[in-house]
Amino acid sequence: MASASTNDIEFRSVTKSYGFVTAVTDINLNVPKGAFLALLGPSGCGKTTCLRMIGGFEQPSEGTVLIDGREMNGVPAYRRPVNMVFQHYALFPHFNVEQNVAYGLRQMRPRIAAGEINRRVGEALEMVRLGGFAKRRIHEMSGGQQQRVALARAIVNRPSVLLLDEPLAALDKKLRSAMQIELQTLQRELGITFVLVTHDQEEALSMADIVCVMSAGRIRQLGSPQEVYDRPADLFVADFVGKTNRVDATMEADGRTLRLGDGSALAASARQSVSPGQAIVAIRPEAIRLTRTPAADVASFQGTVTHRIFLGSSAEYAVTVPGLGDFLVTADRRDMNASELVEPGQTVFLGFNPAGAHVFSASSAA
Ligand SMILES: Nc1ncnc2c1ncn2[C@@H]1O[C@H](COP(=O)(O)OP(=O)(O)OP(=O)(O)O)[C@@H](O)[C@H]1O
Ligand SMILES: [Mg+2]
Repeated sequence: MASASTNDIEFRSVTKSYGFVTAVTDINLNVPKGAFLALLGPSGCGKTTCLRMIGGFEQPSEGTVLIDGREMNGVPAYRRPVNMVFQHYALFPHFNVEQNVAYGLRQMRPRIAAGEINRRVGEALEMVRLGGFAKRRIHEMSGGQQQRVALARAIVNRPSVLLLDEPLAALDKKLRSAMQIELQTLQRELGITFVLVTHDQEEALSMADIVCVMSAGRIRQLGSPQEVYDRPADLFVADFVGKTNRVDATMEADGRTLRLGDGSALAASARQSVSPGQAIVAIRPEAIRLTRTPAADVASFQGTVTHRIFLGSSAEYAVTVPGLGDFLVTADRRDMNASELVEPGQTVFLGFNPAGAHVFSASSAA
C-alpha cells in the first residue's frame, strides 16, 4: 500500500539512445508506492521508451532504473515485479476469455494448482467487471471488453507495478470515460503503482495523481494534475495541458509592467515577473469573461466574435481583439441565459484578472 517514504520506481539520470536517435535524455523521476503516474506528451516524446525501461524490454544507455529500491540494470522483464499492457494489446484470438487470462499463470514454474488458477482468474475477471464472460471467445467481445480482458491478464499475477501504454486509445469517447473511472477504481482496490502512458491531457489530468509532462525526450514538469494545469512550468506545458491564449507583450525595464500590442499595460505580480524584453502572457479560455457591455474586470478588451462553437453545456467563442489578436473564450451555459448567446459579428468585451494569467519570457517559448 501507499507509503510516502518509499519509491516504487526511480529513474536516475536515465538516457536512452537508439543508434543516433536519443529517445530520452537525463530523466530523473521518483514514483511513490501506490501512486498513479501519467506520462503525458506528444507523439515521439519518449513515453513508451520510459515504460519499456521500467518493464525491462529496453535497457538505459546511461543511468539506472530502480524498482522498489533495487537496481534493475540487466534484470530481464520476466524477473521484474511489473506487468505491461501494450500499446497494441495482443490477446490470443483462438482462446476464450478465461484461457487468455490464465495463460501466464499456467506457464509458471513451479506449477500452480488448477483450482488456484481458476480462483485467481475469476477474481481478476470480477475486478474488471467481466465476471460472466469467462467462456466467451475473444472475437465475440467488444473493443472495450477486449481491453478489459487485457487488463485482467495483466493483474492476474498481482504485479506490484502495472504499466499501461495508451490502454484506452482504441475506445470511443463514452467507453473511454467509463474505463477511466474503472481503471481508477481498480488502482485503488489493488493498491499497486500504475504508470499510464497517454498523449491525451484530459485522460492524464482526470486519472493520475502525478502527471509527468514530457517533450522531446525530456521532462518538462512533474506535479499533481492541479499543479501542471494551474501553474505550468513553461509555455509548452501551458499549451499542451489544456488550451491557452497567447498574447505577445513586452516586459518593461521595471520588470513589472507588461505592455501589450494595443498600447495598454498590465501590472505583473512578483510571481509573473520575467526579465525585460519580449514576453508571452498565457490566459486560459475559461479565465476570460465574455460580456456584451464593458465589464468592471481588472483588464477589459473590446473585440468582435468571429466564430461560435456550440459544445452543449458550454460554448467556445473565437474573438478578435484589435492589436492583440485572436482569443478563445469558454462560456458556461449556466452563466449565460439563452438571450445572451452571442452571434458571430457582434461586438463583445473580454474581461479577466491578470493575476490569473501566466507570463513567460519569449526566449523560453517552445
Ligand atoms: N527501436 C527504436 N529504434 C530507433 N528509434 C526508436 C525506437 N523506438 C523509439 N524510437 C524513437 O525514440 C523516440 C521516442 O519514441 P517513443 O516510442 O518512446 O515515443 P512515444 O512518446 O511513446 O510516442 P507515441 O505517442 O507516438 O507512441 C522517437 O523519436 C522514436 O522514433
Ligand atoms: Mg508510445
